[in-house]
Amino acid sequence: MKKLVAGIVGCGNISKFHFSGLEKADVEVAWVCDLDEDAARPWAERFGSRFTKDYREIIADPAVDVVDVTAISRVHKEICLAAIDAGKAVICEKTLAENADDSLEIVSAAEAAGTIFYTSYMKRFIPVVQKARELLPSLGTLLSTHIRAYQCWGDIWDTAPDEGFFWTPPGGASQVRGKYGGGILVCGGSHILDLVHFFLGRPYRVFAHMHKPEGRDYDMQAACLMETENGIVHYEALAHPLNRIGYLHDGWDERIEIFGTKGRIEILSAQWDQVEHKASRLLHYDNETGETTEYDLGAVSPFEPAIAFFCDNIRRGEQGSQSRLTGYEVDEMIAHIEKSAAEGKSIDVRWRG
Ligand SMILES: NC(=O)c1ccc[n+]([C@@H]2O[C@H](COP(=O)([O-])OP(=O)(O)OC[C@H]3O[C@@H](n4cnc5c(N)ncnc54)[C@H](O)[C@@H]3O)[C@@H](O)[C@H]2O)c1
Repeated sequence: MKKLVAGIVGCGNISKFHFSGLEKADVEVAWVCDLDEDAARPWAERFGSRFTKDYREIIADPAVDVVDVTAISRVHKEICLAAIDAGKAVICEKTLAENADDSLEIVSAAEAAGTIFYTSYMKRFIPVVQKARELLPSLGTLLSTHIRAYQCWGDIWDTAPDEGFFWTPPGGASQVRGKYGGGILVCGGSHILDLVHFFLGRPYRVFAHMHKPEGRDYDMQAACLMETENGIVHYEALAHPLNRIGYLHDGWDERIEIFGTKGRIEILSAQWDQVEHKASRLLHYDNETGETTEYDLGAVSPFEPAIAFFCDNIRRGEQGSQSRLTGYEVDEMIAHIEKSAAEGKSIDVRWRG
């Protein structure tokens, strides 16, 4: 079978996980692209790839099968739409776009063209998350889910930063907003919204609270109750200052608990960029036997199984079991959480795609 050929657009922090995922999936990285040549050159040398500052060169190359978009979220729409238009398969980092309208436009274009299109929410591919999904039917009727992303962002609650990543300059934008499009809801909260969809399906109603400190352009807390066909969800994304909490005492305190009539599962997840040496854990309680089983499936980067899954499907010419709409679904929920919090009331979720 012909070797799959890829081009990567964006060679910043996240790209190393995609490079290693593509390498392990036996994909030829023919092109690397970044506006900053210094960021891209080491990768071009390592993979023997061609370098460009203009992603359109990659898209114009008929040898390229897949465009992997790892640039900042603000430029995803332009690059994804151009790649879809050129008939390339697309893997795009989360969050898919800066707002739900743009995400809907991207996934609608992919659906219309029949493009194989993935938003890379890699936490679905953490081995214990996959195992938990497998165990879900054993929980009976699902009643209640508690899901939270508590990330240590340092001591920025009481004291507004006056420099660095979390500083909002007067009249300007913070780096966290410029790079990721928002605060904790977009950064950590988007992943657990994707996991709500992965485990329970789309919510149909939401009642949210958000906290954005005075003078800053990013939120530090987003909490909500969601109603789904699979029970109620208690959701919270929080940027906190406690640097020794969490099951590994490293300030990362993310967990998911799903309660059903026959059992319960609990996932304790490791910090996203340290997954190669910190394992996530899963506990499964079975009410019939009264036993709790603990799963430790090792420290595995979820980017690798994610990219392997995407590339296997692209080779076969199939979208496979992950919908093109994944990235839109998260961005639509972000929009509804923001709306509910702003209005101070519960709202029905209007799904448009
Ligand atoms: N999955 C996760 O847990 C996770 C974690 C961090 C970041 N991300 C996502 O990854 C993406 C990148 O984040 P990052 O932290 O690597 O950012 P980064 O700033 O470190 O890297 C982004 C790179 O994109 C380049 N770039 C910007 N515009 C470009 C363009 N038009 N053409 C080519 N290159 C361009 C920049 O020069 C930069 O080198 C974002 O969408 C972010 O939300 C996901």
